[in-house]
Amino acid sequence: MKVLLYMDRGMTIKETLQWAKKELKESCQRPQYEAELLLAYHLKQDRMYLITHDRDEVLDVEGFETLIQRRAANEPYEYIVGEASFYDIYLFVEKGVLIPRPETEILIDLVAEIIEKEDIRHIAEIGVGSGAISVVLARKFPLLKVIATDICDVPLKVAQKNIETFGLSEQIEVHKSNLIDEVTETLELVVSNPPYIAEDFILKSNVVDYEPKEALFGGRIGDELLKQIILDVKERGIKYLACEMGYDQKEPLQAYVNEVGVKSIKFYKDLAGFDRGFVIVFNEGKQ
Ligand SMILES: C[S@@+](CC[C@H](N)C(=O)[O-])C[C@H]1O[C@@H](n2cnc3c(N)ncnc32)[C@H](O)[C@@H]1O
Repeated sequence: MKVLLYMDRGMTIKETLQWAKKELKESCQRPQYEAELLLAYHLKQDRMYLITHDRDEVLDVEGFETLIQRRAANEPYEYIVGEASFYDIYLFVEKGVLIPRPETEILIDLVAEIIEKEDIRHIAEIGVGSGAISVVLARKFPLLKVIATDICDVPLKVAQKNIETFGLSEQIEVHKSNLIDEVTETLELVVSNPPYIAEDFILKSNVVDYEPKEALFGGRIGDELLKQIILDVKERGIKYLACEMGYDQKEPLQAYVNEVGVKSIKFYKDLAGFDRGFVIVFNEGKQ
């Protein structure tokens, strides 16, 4: 039975947090911390305020209860508050767009190294999502031009909003496109964190029930889209391709590039030690 928080007399911050912590026990690994984050968000204050004002009454407790119910039903914190922390920025996110993951920051650092070393000016990103990769790269390199694609409308809209928030409209253009099919510009590098999970892989409720399927599943095996990207980039005569991938996709992708023919491929690991992506250098010129 749902226990309602609001009562005849008001509830203090301390009492409200105790209630919220209990409500989040099943769904969150850190219920106290998340209760504090959500109450701070509700009160438009920081977490320190909760400690220094713990005897104050909470206004609009019904509104706070709704936030807690959403989180207790496994809705990701980022969708509830409408933003995600990524690299050195906060990005606007909403349902329909993937919440950017910390491991993608490794991909950005690898691409940044290449851009810097080769003085690259024109790149494309496949599957822009919230704009995480393109926005961070464009902020790092003010002379960089990025064409960012996605097949879904919500990511295109969310990415555009983030691009405008960070004043990057001159540097990043978004296009609705399957992979780079609609991109006609000459490119030096393509970066992508495409969907790469196998169709039948069991994901946690906070992911599978809330995040867009188009951002998660890469096909029956999972690496189908990655292979298509490798082929398309090679056929377009683009020199560099950097992608994130699944922890179990190194072997099949190594076998695939052996078949397709590339100058070199280097795989990289994430901070947990799992294989997480690769950088391919293709032989230059049209293949
Ligand atoms: C894993 S998300 C990555 C989002 C963002 N780049 C990030 O790293 O947080 C993959 C994105 O690729 C998009 N996508 C899926 N299939 C695509 C395709 N065939 N062409 C272009 N984009 C695609 C999805 O809509 C989704 O936004």
